[in-house]
Amino acid sequence: LTADRYPHLKRDTRYKALTDEDIAFFKSVIKSDAGVITADRPDELEPFNEDWMRRFRGQSKVVLRPKTAAEVAALLKYCNEHRLAVVPQGGNTGLVGGSVPVHDEIVLSLQNMNEIRSFDEVSGILTCDAGCVLEVLDNWLAERGYMMPLDLGAKGSCQIGGNVATNAGGLRLLRYGSLHGTVLSMEVVLPDGRIVELGQPLRKDNTGYDLKQLFIGSEGTLGIITAVSILTPRRPKAVNVAMLGVSTFEGVQEVFKHAKGELNEILSAFEFFDHTCLNLVKHHIPNVREPFTTQTPFYVLIETNGSNKDHDDEKLAVFLENLMTEGVVEDGALAQDSTQAAGMWSIRETITESLAKEGGNYKYDLSVPVPHLYSVVEEMQERLASVGLFDKNGSATGRVKHVVGFGHMGDGNLHLNLTSTGWAKDIDEAIEPFLYEIIQKHGGSISAEHGLGLMKAPYLQYSKSEAFIELMRSMKSVFDPNGILNPYKYFPPLSK
Ligand code: FAD
Ligand code: MLT
Ligand code: ZN
Repeated sequence: LTADRYPHLKRDTRYKALTDEDIAFFKSVIKSDAGVITADRPDELEPFNEDWMRRFRGQSKVVLRPKTAAEVAALLKYCNEHRLAVVPQGGNTGLVGGSVPVHDEIVLSLQNMNEIRSFDEVSGILTCDAGCVLEVLDNWLAERGYMMPLDLGAKGSCQIGGNVATNAGGLRLLRYGSLHGTVLSMEVVLPDGRIVELGQPLRKDNTGYDLKQLFIGSEGTLGIITAVSILTPRRPKAVNVAMLGVSTFEGVQEVFKHAKGELNEILSAFEFFDHTCLNLVKHHIPNVREPFTTQTPFYVLIETNGSNKDHDDEKLAVFLENLMTEGVVEDGALAQDSTQAAGMWSIRETITESLAKEGGNYKYDLSVPVPHLYSVVEEMQERLASVGLFDKNGSATGRVKHVVGFGHMGDGNLHLNLTSTGWAKDIDEAIEPFLYEIIQKHGGSISAEHGLGLMKAPYLQYSKSEAFIELMRSMKSVFDPNGILNPYKYFPPLSK
């Protein structure tokens, strides 16, 4: 990142610089030593300043880790009154540079707010602090026969508050729906220190504007989410996982059509990845168990969740037989037990880690109509070849080594990733805005599930009209009139 490409990255002088008096106030609110991390503990401060991809780095001099909503309120009110900019941070697994400071903003981490508040075993409604880690919640629910309605590769670190703030999609959205449907209410703290309940933990509530929806995907720009009530489904009694090899993307679409027809109500995931993704996983992750060795350009991972194993097995048998008879798939394997199922999932879930290990990893997350999903990858390969950065014949001799596609096929969500020898301005400029123009041409979205953060803020107009962005700015000013929350991100710079 360079300041000339992102002119809005200059530090905004409206924000006050941190002083010793500020630190003293923070320590008077959060009494525990571990709750306020200052610059005299640089090793502890460092991880809060750098994002998961090690691409975005800030220079915050203080991290606040309150334990209660009341503490969050006191801290935020003070910051608002003193014009101190604040970055809310969850598990810091976000992939668009939204969770770390750009300059010296204060990091307000939800790490220490991790209590489960209540669970109703009849309705499945869970209420918990925003800092609860997704996997911890899912394990807790498993003991009660329930599950979290979302799952993602970052589950071991990401927090439910961060998931809600980014409107994370993940691996089973096609079955269990988006957080816009499953989140029933939340507790938020506004910059003026008000603690507000946005709704109630009820399935039905038609009383006024549904303000919680605004906070889902607001990426820390409106307020701090301190608690979430979410509807959790029963854990399925029967789970099946299959991996299939397919020779064309048209074939992948055929498999999807069959899955919707023959697996219908039990289909819980439909993921795809290309051949290069699989090779990178094999290269970087030890002991990968390939379920079959036939090499095909595309792979599909299908999961079913149901309540009767015999019924599900029968449906899967018909589905697989139809695919074989029609010659839609080249090869395939059905997991025979939970270990094999986990092995198949781990191939899909370690693609992100494998790409990150390649060096510079340019990540793009987009939606386009399903028939165009993979052509976006091919168009990008052509483009980078035409400017001499990429060798389409697969020799990995260009500075861009790989241009790959994978993602949540069932949701029309592609993760286009490029790996290179390092970050470079000319590579950046070969990709952007070219890619955003392609997405616009297909009537797609420049962010399907990862959000805007710092990375996509300047390009919002490729997906949203001027009038829409103006309305967004108006809403921001209602909740955060002094603009202290997560500045420099989410909105295109006004000077553009
Ligand atoms: P952070 O990264 O800490 O923050 C993300 C944003 O939310 C920031 O703007 C931050 O300011 C804001 N924020 C965080 N907590 C709060 C809060 N309590 N109140 C207000 N604002 C807050 N994403 C998907 O959608 N689908 C996937 O399948 C997926 N898989 C992933 C796999 C891997 C390996 C990794 C590293 C990331 C993946 N992600 C995925 C991206 C990321 O995990 C999600 O966006 C996740 O929801 C972020 O949660 P977090 O707690 O880490 O939030
Ligand atoms: C995924 O689907 O694996 C995630 O969104 C992470 C990524 O895009 O790398
Ligand atoms: Zn994803």
